[in-house]
Amino acid sequence: MHTPPADAARDFGLGRGRVYPADRAGGLLNPLRRLLHPPARLVRRLDPAPSDVLLEVGPGPGWFSRALAARVPDGSLHLLDLQEQMVTMALSRASSDVVVGTAGDAAALPFADGSFDAVAATAVLGEIPDPRAALGEFARVLRPGGRLLTLETRTDPDFIAHRRLVTMAAPVGLHPHSRHGRLLGYTAVLRRGAR
Ligand SMILES: C[S@@+](CC[C@H](N)C(=O)[O-])C[C@H]1O[C@@H](n2cnc3c(N)ncnc32)[C@H](O)[C@@H]1O
Repeated sequence: MHTPPADAARDFGLGRGRVYPADRAGGLLNPLRRLLHPPARLVRRLDPAPSDVLLEVGPGPGWFSRALAARVPDGSLHLLDLQEQMVTMALSRASSDVVVGTAGDAAALPFADGSFDAVAATAVLGEIPDPRAALGEFARVLRPGGRLLTLETRTDPDFIAHRRLVTMAAPVGLHPHSRHGRLLGYTAVLRRGAR
């Protein structure tokens, strides 16, 4: 596992702009979350092919990771989180040969251009000090036509409105493909255009 870059020092906690701390990871695995964020529904919205190569950025303890891994039996799922403890928990929860994990920063992804068919980032963007830079990185590591899925919940102090997401994503070549949900939050899929 890689070590996060030295400049990845952050403020950890539950408030706005703070990184959700690994010692509160249990809160992200509350079974009641099935009502709001059923993993199977998120995976349906991303709709990966069995051989797709996926990146999940900020998986936390892996609420969605197991379902994502199950959909790419002939591909792979890469997990990248700022906190090594989160990567360890997500790897253990996914418990699959197709999953690998790395500690690192979304704003400086340690992957080559065009490496992934899809990137998922759920409840993460608002915790990143420069979400535009992270979106640029997501676009860079996606192949042309690749998809970015984001999930935002209104009660999250780091909620990013859909309009703001689309405005930030357009300059890096990520364009709206589909959107689900409105009242409590939303899932958005954006597609990377050809450069
Ligand atoms: C609120 S949790 C969401 C976890 C998971 N995606 C979910 O929906 O349950 C946010 C996660 O993003 C990670 N994170 C925050 N900033 C990050 C960054 N710059 N790079 C990578 N991961 C980051 C945190 O460590 C945490 O695990």
